[in-house]
Amino acid sequence: MFYYICGKLTQLKLQTMKKVFRISLKALGIIILLIVLAGLGAYWYINSNLLSFEKDYAEKIDIKELTIDGYAFLDRNGDGKLDIYEDDRKPTNERVKNVLHQMTLEEKIHLLKGSGLGSALGIGNTAVAGAVGTIVPTPRLGIPTIYLSDGPAGLRIAPEREDEDRTYYCTAFPIGTLLSSTWNIDLVNEVGTAMGNEALEYGIDVILGPGANIHRHPFCGRNFEYYSEDPVLTGFIGAAMVNGIESQGIGTSVKHFVANNQEIDRNFNDVIVSDRAMREIYLKGFEIIVKKSQPWTIMSSYNKVNGIYVSESEELLTDILRNDWNFEGLVMTDWFGGNAASNQIAAGNDLLEPGTKKQWKALIEAAENGTLSEEEINTSVKRILKLIIQSKKMQNYQYSNNPNLEAHAEIARHSATEGIILLKNKDALPIKNVKNIALLGVTSYEFIAGGTGSGDVNEAYTVSLEEGLKNAGFEINQAAKKIFKTHKTEHKEEFIKPEGFSAMTTPYFPPRISYTENELNEIIASSDLGIITIGRNSGEGGDRVEKDDFLLSKKEQSMMANVCKAFHKVGKKVIVVMNIGGVIETVSWKSKPDAILLAWQGGQEGGNSVADILSGKVNPSGKLPMTFPVNMNDHASSANFPLEGGTMDIMKMVFATREEKPENEKVKNKDYTYYEEGIYVGYRHFDKAELDVSYPFGFGLSYTTFDLSDFNVTLQDNTIEVTVTVTNSGSLAGKEVLQVYTSKPDTKIDRPLKELRTFTKTKTLKPEEAATVNFQIPVSELSYWSEEASQWRLEKGLYSIQVGASSREIRLSKEIEIN
Ligand code: BGC
Repeated sequence: MFYYICGKLTQLKLQTMKKVFRISLKALGIIILLIVLAGLGAYWYINSNLLSFEKDYAEKIDIKELTIDGYAFLDRNGDGKLDIYEDDRKPTNERVKNVLHQMTLEEKIHLLKGSGLGSALGIGNTAVAGAVGTIVPTPRLGIPTIYLSDGPAGLRIAPEREDEDRTYYCTAFPIGTLLSSTWNIDLVNEVGTAMGNEALEYGIDVILGPGANIHRHPFCGRNFEYYSEDPVLTGFIGAAMVNGIESQGIGTSVKHFVANNQEIDRNFNDVIVSDRAMREIYLKGFEIIVKKSQPWTIMSSYNKVNGIYVSESEELLTDILRNDWNFEGLVMTDWFGGNAASNQIAAGNDLLEPGTKKQWKALIEAAENGTLSEEEINTSVKRILKLIIQSKKMQNYQYSNNPNLEAHAEIARHSATEGIILLKNKDALPIKNVKNIALLGVTSYEFIAGGTGSGDVNEAYTVSLEEGLKNAGFEINQAAKKIFKTHKTEHKEEFIKPEGFSAMTTPYFPPRISYTENELNEIIASSDLGIITIGRNSGEGGDRVEKDDFLLSKKEQSMMANVCKAFHKVGKKVIVVMNIGGVIETVSWKSKPDAILLAWQGGQEGGNSVADILSGKVNPSGKLPMTFPVNMNDHASSANFPLEGGTMDIMKMVFATREEKPENEKVKNKDYTYYEEGIYVGYRHFDKAELDVSYPFGFGLSYTTFDLSDFNVTLQDNTIEVTVTVTNSGSLAGKEVLQVYTSKPDTKIDRPLKELRTFTKTKTLKPEEAATVNFQIPVSELSYWSEEASQWRLEKGLYSIQVGASSREIRLSKEIEIN
């Protein structure tokens, strides 16, 4: 009986187990099916809404050439006649009017938003793989696709294409911050010309740059793309870049307009800021760029200003940009920026990028129900058509796909050399009687060309400091190199450079090295000089932090202390090279090495550029475009900045609704940031608050010295004319930057102690050679923004006109009466 019961039970158990197994199998099958369906659904959704939803608007390529009355032209609409818009000889506005007249409302609405992210991801039949956005073609009228691509340090397209052996590398030029450190307008123009030419020859019509946001706080992850804490330096350099690029018939998109000074929650952040700070600091650089270079496009920023998304702000995009400054180009959104498509168009944001199906539907609906009038649509369409008509594409330019990368590499090299700043030199530079150099620190061997994100470039190579010094004829110390190699092998995984999309969002930051006493002794015994490289890397989507980034890490601190001590003990020198994209702390260690070079991130030729300065082939002439503070907290903006760092959420950027959070749920420095410091950004704050700084704005040493003389200031027709003679009083040839500041000693209002108004850089002056330079400052530039009057106001009376070697070293000054 017992066995019988046991048998029955076993049978029952087996049956139950079989049943459970069958049910589990079924459940698993259903789950797999659901996952597959969800995956397919998601793919379908993403493909049809974000990637390629413009299949009916494929570019017309079989356009015939006709000749009528001896004039050869492309018969774009195929009607066998010469239409006004097909006639290159006609003025742009007439051609624009003519196309507009022939377009249907649907075609017009198609133009208002791009064709999705397909081309950026290399999906679909696009002409330029990696181009991050497009202006949709109008096939019926033979209007071509316009390709848009990043960015501020050179063109960013995909270097490889399916089924092709050849590559499409671009030149990595120096980062924006390095370019502004040159204070050389002609040089930046030359860089822009080369960048524009590269775009032209690779079939790109608009470069998404330069970046003109102000360095409000040193932790903004994208500061490397931007120029300065000062709007005049930003404006002059930015305009030179725009003029250079656009000289090639390529458009620019000056970004990110405006007050986009942090990456954390950038898509939703509301900047609470005074009108005065906007006008005098955040808008000012853009204003100068618009007035000096009239860029083809401006990119509105993600953030809100005082409660309104910039891309929906009629005040910013129409009243200020168009009515006050006479901007004649188009405004496009930043990628997936803003909220309501029809509000954006109505406010003056003409083009929505990269464009989604949702936006297309919203615009159709708004046009149908009258919330968006045809007049508003026409206004934006006309601006877009103007760009298309102006473009080389419309002139049927046959791009070569072979820009002169060698010539551009040379431009990258000499522009990077000129932006390198000599911060300290105790008889250590240029290097003399040195054969063998010990390179310490990971970045000496893994030099960083630029920052990450859309400001990164796909370059063919990056010259490291090691290679640069070898090219300059120096010997590289093998004991130090061996330690680096072992370190790299031990941390193989962390030395793998992120590629593709993850390279966009993950700064490459391999682990630092420590050196034992024995190792250092061996290195010192076999070398003549030590070079420590301190590297940093940041970029789009994240902000920097204090620990291990602004401050040296523990390992770096001990490397600095031990290396300097050990080399000095035997009478050998140590030089520090900073291969960084943003400001770091320097006070705690700057007394240790014999010389400090701020090399920034010099693009693909970075190592050669640093070697040019170290060897004395080029005399350094870079000057700081921002202040290096003693402490991070000395910046007034530190009271209102997301100091804890973090990275942006891409899914949230693309998919999250832009619904307003209730007031009590809003988080400071994420949902909103209060620009409590007002106009007191950078040196304006450090000077006013009488704070010590580590290195002041405008500072930079040379291997020679310069004397100033014959300083003259006069007032003529509402313009201040300044003349000064600069003489090379040292023994090496070099260039000097002249910075002109003004100050209002008896001001009745709260104003900065001094403000940069203009500047110039001399050509190379030989020893004893002199140059006389002239500046013109319109008196109106001395105005301040009056909140009460909502206008620029000029204080009458005495002003001091000053020529400085930095904001803290005024070398000449004269007073002038303005009535
Ligand atoms: C960046 C822009 C860039 C765009 C296209 C955005 O995420 O903020 O600066 O031009 O992407 O790559």
